[in-house]
Amino acid sequence: MGVGAEVVDLTKSFGDQTVWSNVSLTVPAGDITVLLGPSGTGKSVFLKTLIGLLRPDRGRVYIDGQELTAMNERDLYAIRQRCGVLFQDGALFGSMTVYDNIAFPLREHTRKTEKEIRRIVGERLELVGMSGDEDKLPSEISGGMRKRAGLARALVMDPELILCDEPDSGLDPVRTAFLGKLIAELNAETGATFLIVTHDINTARTLPDHIGMLYKGELIAFAPRAEILESEEPVVKQFLNASLDGPIGMAEEKDAEDPLAHAGAAP
Ligand SMILES: Nc1ncnc2c1ncn2[C@@H]1O[C@H](COP(=O)(O)OP(=O)(O)OP(=O)(O)O)[C@@H](O)[C@H]1O
Ligand SMILES: [Mg+2]
Repeated sequence: MGVGAEVVDLTKSFGDQTVWSNVSLTVPAGDITVLLGPSGTGKSVFLKTLIGLLRPDRGRVYIDGQELTAMNERDLYAIRQRCGVLFQDGALFGSMTVYDNIAFPLREHTRKTEKEIRRIVGERLELVGMSGDEDKLPSEISGGMRKRAGLARALVMDPELILCDEPDSGLDPVRTAFLGKLIAELNAETGATFLIVTHDINTARTLPDHIGMLYKGELIAFAPRAEILESEEPVVKQFLNASLDGPIGMAEEKDAEDPLAHAGAAP
C-alpha cells in the first residue's frame, strides 16, 4: 500500500539563492500526483528534499506521518528504503549491466539470495518490457530503455512511495503514453503513491489525481486534476496550453519583472 507525504512551510536555498519558499502540500497516499513547473523552478530539488537527500532551510517534511526533518541518518535510511526514486538522468551505474543495476538495491539493502533476486529482477524487467536486455550495459541501450531500466530499479524494493523525475523526457509520444499507462497500472495494482515531475502536458492532463505547479519560488497551485485543468490562473493556463502568451517567457525568472522583456520575446 502507498504512504503519503506532507510538507509544511518548506524553504530551500543554496547560498543566497532561494529555490522556493513556504511550500506546503500533501501528496495523498495511494494517489498519483504530478508536479509541473518551468525549467529551473526547483522540481528536482523538491523531490530530493522530500526524501531527505537535501535538507531544507526551514519547514518540515513528513512521510507516513514521520518527520524526516527531525531524523538522524539511520532513520532516514530506513524511510528511504520504502521509497523508490527514478532520478532525472536515470542514474544507472555505467559499468554495470542492466541486470546488476536493477539487482543493486536488493543486494545492498536485503539478505535475499541470488535466486530470489533473479526472480524479482526478471519480474521487473518484464514489467517495463525489457526482458532480454539484462546483459547490456547502459551505453548499449537507448535513452528510453535507460529510463525504463531506471524505473525497474526504482520498483525493485516494492516501494510505498515512488518519485519519478521526468520519467518521460527523451521518449517518443507513443512510449510516453505507454509509460503513463504503466504507471497507472502499477498504481492500481500496488496502491503505491506516485509523485511525478513531468513536462509532458498530455501526461499531466490524463494521468494524475492531483496537480501542483511551482513557479518563481512558490507553489502557485495544488489541487485535484480537474480543478487545475480548468484553472484561470494565467501561469497554469499558459503552461497547460504550451502557449506563448502569458507571464512565462524564455527567461522566466526575469520576464514578469520586466514587461518589456516579455513583449520583446514574443514573436
Ligand atoms: N546541489 C545544488 N547546488 C546548488 N544549486 C543547485 C543544486 N541543485 C540545484 N540547484 C539549483 O536550484 C535550482 C532548481 O534546480 P532544479 O534542478 O530543481 O530545477 P528543475 O525544476 O528540476 O528544472 P528542470 O525542469 O530543468 O529539470 C536551479 O537554479 C539549480 O541551479
Ligand atoms: Mg529537474
